[in-house]
Formats: sequence, C-alpha cells, structure tokens
Amino acid sequence: MSIGTLVAFTTLQTSLFRPSVQLLQTGVEVQTSMALFRRVFEYLDLRPDLVEPADPRPLPAVRGDVRFEDAGFSYEPGTPTLSGIDLTVPAGTSLAVVGATGAGKTTLGHLVPRLYDVTSGRVTLDGVDVRDLSFADLSAAVGVVSQETYLFHASVADNLRFAKPGASDEELEAAARAAQIHDHISALPAGYDTLVGERGHRFSGGEKQRLAIARTILRDPPVLVLDEATSALDTRTERAVQRAVDALAAGRTTITIAHRLSTVRDADQIVVLDRGRVAERGTHAELLALGGRYAGLVARDESLTTAA
Ligand SMILES: Nc1ncnc2c1ncn2[C@@H]1O[C@H](COP(=O)(O)OP(=O)(O)O)[C@@H](O)[C@H]1O
Ligand SMILES: [Mg+2]
Repeated sequence: MSIGTLVAFTTLQTSLFRPSVQLLQTGVEVQTSMALFRRVFEYLDLRPDLVEPADPRPLPAVRGDVRFEDAGFSYEPGTPTLSGIDLTVPAGTSLAVVGATGAGKTTLGHLVPRLYDVTSGRVTLDGVDVRDLSFADLSAAVGVVSQETYLFHASVADNLRFAKPGASDEELEAAARAAQIHDHISALPAGYDTLVGERGHRFSGGEKQRLAIARTILRDPPVLVLDEATSALDTRTERAVQRAVDALAAGRTTITIAHRLSTVRDADQIVVLDRGRVAERGTHAELLALGGRYAGLVARDESLTTAA
C-alpha cells in the first residue's frame, strides 16, 4: 500500500466515521425524546381535580358576600383538615383567621378561589356555590395575595401589566404608589423598565409582596384572600406592607390569614382555628373578654400563629 493510498483511506474513513457516530447519537436522542413525549402525554391525559362547570351560573355584579356552609376538606380521605366550618363574611367586611401552624388556615383561604374544592358542605359567593361559577368569573371576583409571589423574567411594568393587560402607565404608577412600592421602583436605574427575576433585579421579600399587592390593586377584585408573611419583616418594611394592604383591603371583603396583632385587632370578625375546627369567634374585644385561646395569644403578644 502506498503512502498516498493510506492517507486517502484514513481521511475518507474519518469522514465516514463521524456521520455514523452522529447517526447512532440520533438514535439515542430519539429514544430519550420518545420517553419524554410519553411523560408529556401522560400529563396531558391527567384528569384535573377541579373542573369548570359545563353550564356556569352568571355572576354579573359581585357584591362579595362569602359564606362557608358546613364546609369540610381533607387532603387524604379519612383525615379531615377542615371540618364543620360555618362562617359568614358579609360584603365589604373583614375576617381574620388565626391559629397554630397546621390548624388549616391556608387551606381555608384556598377554598374561596377554588384552589381546592371542599369535600363536604359548600363555599358560596353572593349565595352561589363557587363550583357553579366559571373560572373567569371566579378569578375576576377573588384575588389572592399569598406568601409566594411569582415574578416573571420581564420588566417591572410587564409584571404589573400581567394583572391588567392594557393598563396605562398612569394606572401602573397609581397602583404602585398605593402599594408603597413606587418610590422604590423609580429609584432603580431603569425604573419601570427594570428587568426582574433570575437574571434581572432581585427584589426582597417585602418588595415582592408589595409588587403582588400592586398587581391585585390593578385587578381590583371585590373579594380578597391574604396570607400574611410569617417571616419577620423589619419595622419599616412591615409598616409599608401594612399601608399597602390597607389600601388594597379598603371596601373589599377580606379574609386574612393573620400573623400580626395589628391586622387582627381591627378585623370585623376573628376566628381561631384549632385542628381544622372553629374554636372561637368574635371581635377582638369579645374574644379578650372571653379569656380563652385568643386572649392567651394576645397576652403573650407573640406571633398569633406560632403560639397556641
Ligand atoms: N398539599 C397538601 N397535601 C397534604 N396535606 C397538606 C397539604 N397542605 C397542607 N397540608 C396539611 O394540612 C394541614 C393544614 O395545613 P395549612 O392549611 O397549611 O395550615 P396553616 O396554614 O394553619 O399552618 C397541615 O396538617 C398540613 O400538613
Ligand atoms: Mg399557612
């Protein structure tokens, strides 16, 4: 074999070898993709636990009366998380829910926007079972400000506008002002155009909460479910968040899972949950006079939920 033949052979061999390896690689990729597709389709085939009614009841003008009628809920069959909950929150009034960790406060709040469905009894909005409402009506009627706030990798303005597409810059600013976050946003180099999220500007917990409040102000729902942050905010932030919440709550029906005495004291109605049941109910003054659990919590003047 001449040197020339040898060189030609090895060169050609490599150019033949590379595509064959690629072909094998493709085979592996196809296999992996098929497995992934199977999982995607399995997921798509899942039946949702919450289904929209085929023939929803219309809800033209929402007043915002919320009622729990002998409502019960269990995550696992046989172990009730909530049972026999009877509560009436008239339109425009406030209810504060307190109780030990694990008492079921968050779960109770989740039943109103139908993040979960009751397993017994019912929850109504203006007398209509929430399960009879269209998802669109329900989500327009009930706003949730939870402890977890999701910000998209987009500008601050886009993150706010997500709540109300087509909102003008003035509307965004008014909402941000009411939520006590406007000054902070305008102090950023790019202002409302600042990118948020993983690779953008990172907001602190208290700031994110106020952004969530600004969003909800833009959405303007008549009923609000607020899950107050458990983590201690510094006094200045806490005051700002409190002012933001006050601006948001004005004139709406509010159900607050409360950790701060200030929120609870002023509520029209206070409910103490204990292992999924209503243990005490009344106003701040009534419950103090009762001298029970609530009075004990206040006397200790600690977080109203970690005690008990
Ligand atoms: N997604 C879930 N699946 C199963 N159990 C849950 C779930 N979420 C909460 N629980 C349980 O339900 C009970 C009430 O929880 P939660 O409503 O979060 O209480 P709270 O807000 O008062 O601390 C707890 O015992 C908790 O462990
Ligand atoms: Mg909770």
